[in-house]
Amino acid sequence: RVAGNRFSSTEAAAATRSEPQGPGSEEAAAGTEISTRKKTFSKILAERREQAQRTVLINCPSKINEKKLLKYLSSHGNIKNHFFYESYGMYAVVEFSETDSIASLQDATGSVQLVDECPVPFKSRIFTITLKNPPSQASNQTPVYRHKQATIQVGELLTNLCNADSVSDQLYMLVEKYQLTEENTKLRFFTCSLIQDIASAYFPDCIVKPFGSSVNSFGKLGCDLDMFLDLDAIRKNATQRKTGPFNIDYLMKRVPSERIATQRTLYVIGEFIDNFGPGCVGVQKILNARCPLVRFSHQPSGFQCDLTANNRIALKSSELLYIYGSLDPRVRALVFSVRCWARVQAITSSIPGPWITNFSLTMMVLFFLQRRKPPIIPTLDQLKELADAEDKHVIEGHDCTFVSDLNKIKPTENTETLDVLLSDFFEYFGNFHFNKYSLNIRKGKEQNKPEASALHIQNPFEQNLNISKNVNATQLERFVSLARESAWLLQQTGKSPSSSNQRWGLAALLLTSAGNNASKGTRRKRGPASERIKGLLESLKLSAENGKRPFGTR
Ligand code: GTP
Ligand code: MG
Repeated sequence: RVAGNRFSSTEAAAATRSEPQGPGSEEAAAGTEISTRKKTFSKILAERREQAQRTVLINCPSKINEKKLLKYLSSHGNIKNHFFYESYGMYAVVEFSETDSIASLQDATGSVQLVDECPVPFKSRIFTITLKNPPSQASNQTPVYRHKQATIQVGELLTNLCNADSVSDQLYMLVEKYQLTEENTKLRFFTCSLIQDIASAYFPDCIVKPFGSSVNSFGKLGCDLDMFLDLDAIRKNATQRKTGPFNIDYLMKRVPSERIATQRTLYVIGEFIDNFGPGCVGVQKILNARCPLVRFSHQPSGFQCDLTANNRIALKSSELLYIYGSLDPRVRALVFSVRCWARVQAITSSIPGPWITNFSLTMMVLFFLQRRKPPIIPTLDQLKELADAEDKHVIEGHDCTFVSDLNKIKPTENTETLDVLLSDFFEYFGNFHFNKYSLNIRKGKEQNKPEASALHIQNPFEQNLNISKNVNATQLERFVSLARESAWLLQQTGKSPSSSNQRWGLAALLLTSAGNNASKGTRRKRGPASERIKGLLESLKLSAENGKRPFGTR
């Protein structure tokens, strides 16, 4: 459909990719529909959650006989799927066909006897297997295949990019190298299900759901794992009234606000994770943030986790991004590349501050794609028009209604290549009147800024909020000047050169940085760490001083 598109959108949507349909399924019966029918976001998520519930994690010796291990575990039930990976040791992720198999395995499992330490007796679905007899030196065992859980090094990426045929190919290559794999996605859902086991000790009907880049189709290997503790099933039960002469309600502890209820819930669960959670380290309770959270590192999976509660709108945002990311393969390719470019240029950072976030950057790309002629993706209002009764969602008074069935959205007629789109993206935002306009993806139009923040991107659901309120004028100016520089650089180096060792296209963009002497074609060396930290501090200081200064004239 699109020139230079080597990867299909189904291939691309790894984060929420569903298992292939088995023969005899509804889809198979529908004949040709099989390859084009797409499941809804909530259905894919529900299937993955169910799969995660039937899964266990086993820490095993690196020299393990795969067949023997599977045979041993099979005594507890049929194994549907398994894979190995490395993170502080070797792990096997084993998915049983039935949940009962896990209870059987737990029954047969002891707890390790330690000399100096005492284990906290909380049983989870993470196990350790050791060999009763060490393998003999002579046994020539084939090592098991370990699925990688991290991206390749930037140097290797750049070499790969330079071997591509066009900028379009480079962008698709970046997606292929960086996107979440099927195994990494499974591990994310599994980690959420482990936290759900903990939270279920207090709230048996709760669900812990991943959101953000783990599921929105823009996740990169190594990105954090955002989790949301959903207590709605419990709340709903409390309002369900039976017919008859009485109303019956639970006696529940009362607190002054929903925020306080959320803080207390997260406080208690955070304590549990800290004291009893196997493999959970570095637990921080950040309860006074706008969105209270518990942050921790889950060592067995290697994920940095952020657990929030009462955050339903963020889940809807993730679904919206997923829909946009699944509509056309160019969307993910452009978002991945712009995010990667911004990270390399230090426009985004892992530390919170006055910089543009990945979320805001994604919205900028989406807005840009809505503005193409013809548009590559529809506006949020158009997605709302396609919604049916089941799609209607009003959360805390905010209308979050949009179509959930991807099959109802007409594909775009725009056939522009990513070579053009990447270069035009930089040009568009290099010349955008940020001082005057706000970006509105609901309408797909710029609108007059309602307030004086440097960058104004309307929150698509909480429409009176600005998702980039944190960004200060200095950071926006950096983004604008780097965008201009990159547009220029793409014009110079946008084609595969005849000499092979020259960085070109996306590879050239991932090398350059602000203040670069680009016209000489040289790469600016990054200053020492202390210089960069000084720069960041300066920018923070400016942000405090000029917090309300509108973005100046260019
Ligand atoms: P990564 O940087 O790869 O983690 O991307 P991400 O999309 O997961 O971003 P992050 O972990 O910062 O936030 C997780 C989710 O929270 C996002 O996908 C959004 O749904 C939501 N979110 C993040 N920042 C904001 C914000 O400033 N405003 C609003 N309304 N939601 C936000
Ligand atoms: Mg995230």
